[in-house]
Amino acid sequence: MTSLPVIAIDGPAASGKGTLARRLAAGYGFAHLDTGSLYRAVGLSVLRAGGDPADEGQALSAAQALSPGDSVLTDPALRGDNVAHAASLVAAMVEVRAALLKFQRDFATRPPGGRGAVLDGRDIGTGICPNAEAKLFVTASVEVRAERRVKELQAAGLHAIVEIVLEDMKARDERDSRRAVAPLRPAVDAFVLDTSALDADQAFSAALTFIRSRIGPA
Ligand code: DC
Repeated sequence: MTSLPVIAIDGPAASGKGTLARRLAAGYGFAHLDTGSLYRAVGLSVLRAGGDPADEGQALSAAQALSPGDSVLTDPALRGDNVAHAASLVAAMVEVRAALLKFQRDFATRPPGGRGAVLDGRDIGTGICPNAEAKLFVTASVEVRAERRVKELQAAGLHAIVEIVLEDMKARDERDSRRAVAPLRPAVDAFVLDTSALDADQAFSAALTFIRSRIGPA
């Protein structure tokens, strides 16, 4: 059996990788998995059960119980700040990552729709799908990412202070890049796309040029 194409997209928070992943998936007719939502779902499940996401046993049980059809994976509460914090705690646990590995590899090898898969996260090109046909590492300066997040929050009718969002973003970068297990870094064969000076369409066009060179036109 020949394997289906996989596009791996990694990068820090608010780099624009999610938007790119969705657009590329739609363009190629591939299935898309936002792997951050898995860590968020684990965090949310523990919080909903009244538990402590810093407790490895509780986080591991929640990770082991997660299955592809779970409604928690599409719960709007996944986007909350408390859940983002819980997700960053459980994402630093080796056993939780190991429990979610199979979920992600199954998706990549047998994606819904059967045409191909786009996975976005932090360690897709380096750890989950090291043989992906195309690897993108999407980044932007922390100031630009904080500004984008503030605009998103304001568009959702929420009050946001840029200095606070910036400090929070720096702290998340630090946690994601310095952790011992699966730290955020580009794969050696990834195309690094800095979107600091690009709008969404320009970023998409640059990403598409690279992806076409790897897997052909959509
Ligand atoms: O991208 P996000 O904010 O939804 O990710 C939530 C948390 O999960 C964040 O702390 C990074 C972590 N994460 C990870 O460690 N590995 C991934 N493949 C995806 C997300």
